[in-house]
Amino acid sequence: MKKFFKWLGIILGGLLGIALIGLLGYYIYWYTQARRTMDIEVQTMEIPTDQASIDRGKILVDIVRCTECHGKDLSGMLWANIPVLTGTFGPANLTPGENGIAGYTDEDYIRAIRHGIGRDGRALIYMPSNYYVDLNQEDLGDIIAYLKTLPASEEPGPPNGYSGPYLWDFVLNNPQGLPAIKMIDHEAVSEIPVGPDPSDILAYGEYLALPCRSCHGDDFAGVPLLERLRVPSPNITPYGLGDWTEEEFLAAIREGELPDGTYIPQSLMPWMAIGQLTDGELHAIWVYLQSLPPVADEDAAAYQ
Ligand code: HEC
Ligand code: HEC
Repeated sequence: MKKFFKWLGIILGGLLGIALIGLLGYYIYWYTQARRTMDIEVQTMEIPTDQASIDRGKILVDIVRCTECHGKDLSGMLWANIPVLTGTFGPANLTPGENGIAGYTDEDYIRAIRHGIGRDGRALIYMPSNYYVDLNQEDLGDIIAYLKTLPASEEPGPPNGYSGPYLWDFVLNNPQGLPAIKMIDHEAVSEIPVGPDPSDILAYGEYLALPCRSCHGDDFAGVPLLERLRVPSPNITPYGLGDWTEEEFLAAIREGELPDGTYIPQSLMPWMAIGQLTDGELHAIWVYLQSLPPVADEDAAAYQ
């Protein structure tokens, strides 16, 4: 009997040892893949300080969805807190001050937003900068102008411990987990775009409709499941909107009201912020959407 327990001990100990070596190997792999530092060139610009820019920045952080992840007051959000095999993780506290990003320079903001790289040179995990590299000088400037005026929050942001293999797996196997490494060509991202000119209505509408893409798909023909919101998004090409008039489009964007009398939940689409765009801006988005080829739901890129 004693012998039996001795052997059982040896076998269990051996298995535990193998598991620990495996875990250590995976940790080293994760660390060298995801946590290496990157030295890139960051194009900077002057950040405005006038109230009109700050006010517009406040609208933009909802439209481009910073608040969806970083929280309504941008003080951060804990997404995962599972001590065993996972660890802690969540979008950072973006308020200035001790608990947030005290001492952030203009260059630090631009590096984080456009390149998805933190002040320490590491790829920011799940920070979707691949959608933000196209923000033009005006919008990028207004967003940063607003971030700088946020009141410092009392609470620390999420602890971001990334301490377990489940989280490493999730991040390494999902391109959106490491946009700075898997999705952005930093050499190609040097210039911060200007324009387009509002008089070029199609180009202007295309630019203004960029944030819609992150939910309605690159071809605007809908997405079967929005990961964070757990719902599909509808087709807003002429195929999906059918015989909608511009008035109906405006009612959907400004009041969240659909032609059939139902409402779009604010939690699914930030229409209260989008609705604060000017008449001219919303008109440009409408004209652009109407100019798109009507893509049938079953042909939508995200459904392939
Ligand atoms: C899909 C969710 C998501 C969205 C949308 C998002 N972020 Fe993030 N962001 C994150 C996560 C997660 C982190 C933390 C990453 C890390 O620590 O590795 C982060 C980190 C950051 C950081 C670095 C903070 C630090 O501690 O140095 C900045 C700055 C930032 N985000 C700004 C923004 C801004 C501005 C927007 C909107 C333009 C935005 N984020 C939109 C998820 C998001
Ligand atoms: C955060 C994700 C998100 C963003 C960003 C977003 N939408 Fe939506 N949108 C949705 C979802 C989800 C619905 C469906 C809501 C529902 O089920 O009622 C929707 C519905 C719509 C509808 C109604 C379509 C229909 O057939 O009922 C229109 C029009 C629309 N969006 C236009 C836009 C435009 C234009 C933009 C960009 C300026 C935009 N959306 C940005 C998620 C989003």
